[in-house]
Amino acid sequence: MTMTMSAVPNPANLPDASAVPVPSHFANADSVDAERYAQLCRRAELEPEAFWRDVGNRLEWHTPFTRVKDCSFDLADFRIRWFADGALNVAYNCLDRHVLSRGDKTALIWVADDPQQAVRHISYRELHAQVCKFANALTEIGIGLGDRVMIYLPMIPEAAVAMLACARLGAIHSVVFGGFSAASLAGRIADCQAKLVITADGGYRAGKLVALYPQLVQALAEPETQSIEHVIVVRHASAHAIVSPESECAWQLHDYAELCQRHSAQHQACPFPAETPLFILYTSGSTGKPKGVLHTSGGYLAYASYTHELVFDFRPDDIYWCTADIGWITGHSYVVYGPLANGATSVMFEGVPTYPDAGRVWQIIDALKVSIFYTAPTAIRALMREGDAAVLRSSRKSLRLLGTVGEPINPAAWQWYFQVCGDAHCPIVDTWWQTETGGILMSPLPAVDAAKPGSAMHGLPGIRPVLLDREQQVLAGPGSGNLLIADSWPGQMRTVYGDHARFLQTYFTEFPGYYQTGDGAKRDSDGDLWITGRVDDVINVSGHRIGTAEVESALVAHPAVAEAAVVGIEHALKGQAIAAFVTLRSNPSVGNHESLKGELLLLVRKLIGALAVPDRLIFAPALPKTRSGKIMRRILRKIAEQGDASASAPGSAAEIAERRDALLASLGDISTLADPSVVAQLID
Ligand code: WT7
Repeated sequence: MTMTMSAVPNPANLPDASAVPVPSHFANADSVDAERYAQLCRRAELEPEAFWRDVGNRLEWHTPFTRVKDCSFDLADFRIRWFADGALNVAYNCLDRHVLSRGDKTALIWVADDPQQAVRHISYRELHAQVCKFANALTEIGIGLGDRVMIYLPMIPEAAVAMLACARLGAIHSVVFGGFSAASLAGRIADCQAKLVITADGGYRAGKLVALYPQLVQALAEPETQSIEHVIVVRHASAHAIVSPESECAWQLHDYAELCQRHSAQHQACPFPAETPLFILYTSGSTGKPKGVLHTSGGYLAYASYTHELVFDFRPDDIYWCTADIGWITGHSYVVYGPLANGATSVMFEGVPTYPDAGRVWQIIDALKVSIFYTAPTAIRALMREGDAAVLRSSRKSLRLLGTVGEPINPAAWQWYFQVCGDAHCPIVDTWWQTETGGILMSPLPAVDAAKPGSAMHGLPGIRPVLLDREQQVLAGPGSGNLLIADSWPGQMRTVYGDHARFLQTYFTEFPGYYQTGDGAKRDSDGDLWITGRVDDVINVSGHRIGTAEVESALVAHPAVAEAAVVGIEHALKGQAIAAFVTLRSNPSVGNHESLKGELLLLVRKLIGALAVPDRLIFAPALPKTRSGKIMRRILRKIAEQGDASASAPGSAAEIAERRDALLASLGDISTLADPSVVAQLID
């Protein structure tokens, strides 16, 4: 049966769906049940220091911390410091301490894109040896404490090795998703002044080769990337010859395998203070260039470990699979750092869930006996569209828990995931968090909550979500507002790399004393929270964050373009799609500029990457603006969404005219526009 999909609804408009109780037989003696949950909440509220001390003590400290929390969101005295007088080594905590107690346990199971290729099991001992060799190799080429290292790799074990080797040396890694263009990569290298890039010849996704080294060479041809001294290439796809560019280049090329071969598998991990930077991850905001979100060592790792165990009810014999790419925060916290800190077996998948067909995910789950599966709503919707048969061909007997992340999940997809994929016996955790939060902040707990499809339910113990209305009044009961967090937690980002003022401005200025998430949320009459989506100019396409300003500046980089306005519109599969309105410099008679349209889409692909290419591009005679010159995106969003609906429902001239009038009426008051007639022109 193929289910029809509704577009992702705004949960705020939905009546509360009936809750789905914890499936019987789910919990075991170690699960956090209602009683332990209540204890945790009480401790977090009444003895926060003791509560967070316990979280910090999940890790092994070289120098134990005595100070737990030293945080203030007050701009006059702003600071975020956790476990600050302690010292530890992140890689030691993810590897060495497990080698002593369970060296033969599988740390990573690697599954190639190609289903014919053998699965690789890498034990904690082997992973430790690889990380030690690579750490020695990095030391040899002069990488050490505080150096920035770009990682531009496909989903292969070497990506985890590279991250952990940097962590071991106190070098700051910055992973760039393979789908970003050479220009994006260059911008990130320039922003953090990286010394080294670790890349591969290429990777495979859905049977297609994605070239990486050639993209990197292109990025390194930009003058802004002169900080790069070394390039290390992992041979993975073997389809490309790896040669230095012919023209003289300022960097040295190394082969990953050769480099590692020359080095010992012994490496003594040095301890670093808890607040030592661990990584930078670039993410889009509502304005300007992507921000370098900086996370530090002790607090981040403790929080990733705590939430990985609590939210997924993690048990030592679990086979845990998070499908995220390590280019995103989910891959950092819940493929690599959280699971490895907990001594888990973590699955790393190179491919995509629907290749070679919609049965792939379930085959992998059966073959590896996966017990916990964590993915994005967009993947669930793509699989659901393919029908139940591909799922039902598998047994999925090993599964006991399902999770989602990245965007609101529509109740129809939730129900399909629960009923069909989980056979109604696996709880679903709908986890809300952000690149900035480092780990999950809100989620139902699988052995506690009767889950409501589409609701992230409540803050985890220790996390205090708050709703504020526009007048900055706290909404205590049911209602909708801005989602803010009232106090710090150890996994919180510490700064925007190289721009602390932007950090304070973005997250702590509009609502003094709170961390501003940029999301809206609704509280229902039971007190449960529903994320309603971004309140700023950020679009969430298939769970990936795209800044409207970035796409707009890519479009206006074309000489023919005068102005561009980008909005997110509802999309049944992707959650949101990108619609771009463009006005041209000359030739105001707007017609069918197919070739210009192609050029513009290509330009976005070149300047940002395929993931930011607009789904709809509309040439407009003018853009609707207020008298102060602000583009009214609300109007553009409605027009683009209506345009989509009309395209699928053409009709007689009278019907079209009727729809046009209805749309005009639905736009509400447009009298504040500098030129209200623009709207009618746009609709036509
Ligand atoms: C934005 C953060 C956190 C990992 C992946 C995305 C949206 C995230 C949910 C959820 C509704 C969600 C929010 C948030 N989001 N999880 N469970 N329900 N919305 O990280 O790229 O930093 O994006 O994703 O809008 O602000 P990110």
